[in-house]
Amino acid sequence: MKLNIAVLPGDGIGPEVIAQAEKVLKAIAMEFNHVFTFQHALVGASAIEKTGNPLPEETIDICEKADAILFGAIGNAAFDLDPYAKIRPEQGLLRLRKSLGLYTNIRPVIAYEDLLNKSSLKKKQISNTNILIYRELTGGIYFGEKKLSDDGNTASDICEYTRFEIERIAHLAFKAAQSRKRKLTLVDKANALESSRLWRRVVQEMAPQYPNVQLNFMYIDNAAMELILNPKQFDVILTENMFGDILSEEASVIVGSIGLLASASLGEKHAMFEPIHGAYSKAANKGVANPIASILAAAMLLDHFGLDDEAALIREGVDKSLKLHITTPDLNTKYDNITTTKVGDFIEDFINNPDETNLNFTNIHLGQSTII
Ligand code: IPM
Ligand code: MG
Repeated sequence: MKLNIAVLPGDGIGPEVIAQAEKVLKAIAMEFNHVFTFQHALVGASAIEKTGNPLPEETIDICEKADAILFGAIGNAAFDLDPYAKIRPEQGLLRLRKSLGLYTNIRPVIAYEDLLNKSSLKKKQISNTNILIYRELTGGIYFGEKKLSDDGNTASDICEYTRFEIERIAHLAFKAAQSRKRKLTLVDKANALESSRLWRRVVQEMAPQYPNVQLNFMYIDNAAMELILNPKQFDVILTENMFGDILSEEASVIVGSIGLLASASLGEKHAMFEPIHGAYSKAANKGVANPIASILAAAMLLDHFGLDDEAALIREGVDKSLKLHITTPDLNTKYDNITTTKVGDFIEDFINNPDETNLNFTNIHLGQSTII
């Protein structure tokens, strides 16, 4: 298969982790005789620095022409501390999602048996957690009208949703539930918000079209508690933009590190794949950033094109790296010399030689092995 992939590494740790994902995709292309081409483009604080614009025209153009987009992370501490800044790195990502119509954001939360002890939650509560979060990505409070009074003392963000926006993602979430444990939970705040009541009405009306899916409802405050109290009760969660942002970050506690969660952002014409974590500028260029979320985003990219064996091989490599503790410091207590690049190298090597890497790596003196 020929795929033209736009690569937007972004800010902070973005470039380091995305380099590993790109490396892994190149190994897959070699192994399976695909032709993947990669076109890099600027976004975020690094784009502001070079062009004054967090989403330069050239970047939109490259993304529009690409078959898929691999996105790193965005944000910069200087902007975080300046609430007066009019041009902000995050505008790059938000405009990109909006202009490409990426309205469905899918965030899988799967607990790895080998990592249960990395979570601050109890093992028995989290083992076998397997949740798919469907987060609406181009509507709601993020994109509603924003106002700031002339005296700077009053501000508002409107949370608006239309039936159309709710229906199109809800159909996808119902269908996802049908192919899983057939349970869909709509998370909202219908006891306080009109927009949430619209979500409830629309989703209730749709339910008869999916009679084999058990639909239930949960308020966001309660869901925030239930998610870490008893995550196994969830199968597919459907929710609006901001609730999905918050819940998915909370869900990373179940898995042991936010450095493990990947996501797909899909629209009618375009598809983008990204880790859910941010730019974490403090950790940039230290080799400590976990590249697994980006590598799993690359696997989701392959899923999207039906390249199932290819995606499965990446996931096998990830599983193996976790089993053998070939992981960055956010997860490792065993070795202290595993860098971002070494994790990428290990998974690349696994893809090139899945059989040879069955060697028992724990016996290899890490750092001297040619493999890592
Ligand atoms: C995410 C991020 C973004 C969001 C930020 C960077 C604007 O937190 O993708 O989860 O809020 O959507
Ligand atoms: Mg977030």
